Amino acid sequence: MRAALYRDMGEAAEVFRVEEVDRPEPGPGEVLVRVRASGVNPTDYKARSGAVPRPIDDFQIPHQDGAGVIEAVGAGVDAGRVGERVWLWLAAAGRCWGTAAEWTTVPARQAVTLPDGASFELGASLGVPAMTAHYCLLADGPVAGQTVLVAGGAGAVGHFTIELAKRAGARVVTTVSSPDKAALAEKAGADLVVNYRSPDAADQVRAFGPVDRVVEVALGANFQLDLAVTRPHGTIVTYAAEPANPELPVRVCMTANLTLEFVLIYGVPMTALDQAAADITAALTAGELTELPVHKYPLADIAAAHRAAENGAVGKVIVIP
Ligand SMILES: NC(=O)c1ccc[n+]([C@@H]2O[C@H](COP(=O)([O-])OP(=O)(O)OC[C@H]3O[C@@H](n4cnc5c(N)ncnc54)[C@H](OP(=O)(O)O)[C@@H]3O)[C@@H](O)[C@H]2O)c1
Repeated sequence: MRAALYRDMGEAAEVFRVEEVDRPEPGPGEVLVRVRASGVNPTDYKARSGAVPRPIDDFQIPHQDGAGVIEAVGAGVDAGRVGERVWLWLAAAGRCWGTAAEWTTVPARQAVTLPDGASFELGASLGVPAMTAHYCLLADGPVAGQTVLVAGGAGAVGHFTIELAKRAGARVVTTVSSPDKAALAEKAGADLVVNYRSPDAADQVRAFGPVDRVVEVALGANFQLDLAVTRPHGTIVTYAAEPANPELPVRVCMTANLTLEFVLIYGVPMTALDQAAADITAALTAGELTELPVHKYPLADIAAAHRAAENGAVGKVIVIP
């Protein structure tokens, strides 16, 4: 099969090769999937560049997320799943068979039904972003009636956090940095969109009401705003690391009895990931998860795809194997 792969970490243009490799066979409990769309996430280019290195065993086919059709199943998997449209999560976690190839194999639970109305591109956008959004939002229980602040509402995680929060019955305020991103966040269903560069951004959020839960992409940059708008006993959940660690204003956090939480998808318990996968597919079936603008690249142009994602393309970068 044709696959994009790297054997060493480094710049995309230097380390990527598109080669013929033997197609993997589905082992016990696994499915073989013909990949139709392969989603690029920051975790993929950080692993490839070495910014957040992951061990490479001979070669690494990148990309955790993808979507396609089950073509074969391994021992112990229901043969009735052959032909099923699926979206994939954590395909490359501890495995060399990422989704940037014509075929991949994953444990059967990591190939989840993709409803007919959902495109392969949307399916390939879900794994890391929507599952992270789900856990950041719902790990402590239902958020119905709560006010949720989603930092960076036009980013991939931010987008699905808005949509899942609205589906869960929360009021949602989000921050963005430009009018085009504001339009995306409004389309996703945010009740209020605030430009975080406005001098009165905190006042605008506060006027919306005290925030119960913040889902935060840039804790250091936004800590003062978060503290200014979060109610006592509220929660700030952070899922991204900035180049410099923020200073922790202990007394302010203590006085407000705040809870700070940190989430990394690779360490979320399997039961929570299974729950997230089921909820996400239910939301897809209900038509309540939507695509961000898609930037498509053929497999041969995977280096350009990674460059686009690294340069902050607005929307999802998708590779078509
Ligand atoms: N912990 C985990 O398990 C996990 C899972 C998924 C992603 N991540 C990490 O989370 C980050 C975002 O991932 P993604 O896939 O959502 O990336 P993305 O689609 O590129 O979105 C990033 C968003 O962050 C926004 N942003 C940056 N600085 C901001 C600030 N100071 N205030 C508000 N928004 C800000 C950007 O908007 P502007 O350009 O308008 O600022 C952009 O929309 C990456 O660092 C990724 O590695 C971690």
